[in-house]
Amino acid sequence: MTHEQLRDFDIEKFQEDLISWFEAHKRDLPWRENKDPYRVWVSEIMLQQTRVDTVIPYFQAFMRHFPTIDALAEAEEEKVLKAWEGLGYYSRVRNLQTAVREVKEHYGGQVPATKEEISKLKGVGPYTAGAILSIAYGKPEPAVDGNVMRVLSRILLIEDDIAKAKTRKIFEGILYELISKENPSFFNQGLMELGALVCTPTSPGCLLCPVREHCRAYEAGMQSSLPVKAKKQKPKHKQIAALILRNEEGKVLIQRRPDTGLLAKLWQFPNEETTSLEKEKEELIHYFRKTFNLTVKIGAHVQTVEHIFSHLIWNIHVYEGMIVDGMVQEEDGVKWVSRQEIEDYPFPVSHQKIIAANV
Ligand code: ADE
Repeated sequence: MTHEQLRDFDIEKFQEDLISWFEAHKRDLPWRENKDPYRVWVSEIMLQQTRVDTVIPYFQAFMRHFPTIDALAEAEEEKVLKAWEGLGYYSRVRNLQTAVREVKEHYGGQVPATKEEISKLKGVGPYTAGAILSIAYGKPEPAVDGNVMRVLSRILLIEDDIAKAKTRKIFEGILYELISKENPSFFNQGLMELGALVCTPTSPGCLLCPVREHCRAYEAGMQSSLPVKAKKQKPKHKQIAALILRNEEGKVLIQRRPDTGLLAKLWQFPNEETTSLEKEKEELIHYFRKTFNLTVKIGAHVQTVEHIFSHLIWNIHVYEGMIVDGMVQEEDGVKWVSRQEIEDYPFPVSHQKIIAANV
């Protein structure tokens, strides 16, 4: 079946031009050293929502710590989170560890090579499945992420809104037909590389583009208006007050976040969402009484930290404080730690900034 978007499109020549360019210009990236499906998998998970330059050192360190499926399956979750510290979207790595444990138990430690089986693994969506199957196993499966949608929307002048979930399926359908059956790995990586190096979100480098002669957006002068993407909702602002509570030994109190939700299982300085600047100290005092049965005295405001998530902005007012009355029950999830000890715990970036400035 021919998709209407591919009518009068020279599929073979396009594949050839894209793949030859990729062979000549592909970057030397650590996950391209070999086709180990585990390495490809880890890299693709890291590369979701995170830029290549940021990912490289994390990928290398992660592979030193957890070189194989077995090593990651057997690792302590806290060590795994620590290796991901700073990358964000931590559910990615919690799911990855769950999934490699499934691979170890149900597939004898071999990453499954069919779309059906691989897609059952936790955190392996259609993009990741396609990327692993094509890059590690040479299967002609599309791997559609935002970059690939941008590139293809321009080449074929597709005006569907790429922010809509169902749009990805349209691109997948087209790519099943367009993908090179001889070299699906280089075809998919070629699209990704083109998106990263040439067909960039703003000011695409059309004059250097290896597939310009195939590009309908270029022909129509529309490359800058594609892809069509609905604007995101404005992020919500949350005001938060956090406390650096020190004991007589100079240790600070840290707390593990809940097992689910934003930044699940990471550590933090105890904090509470507040309702107004005037009341935030009072609210923090109330929070400590209710949560730890402690009476605290709030000292100086020492720092303000802003952290921007995709749909949320945290504005954290950081205070120093001391205990006036009560004792902390150290238990799972609440600890006094020294400046040395704190380094073993995974923290969100916002709280790493609090550590860097105050501990
Ligand atoms: N972005 C997503 N996957 C990638 C890969 N394998 N190489 C480079 N950039 C990517």
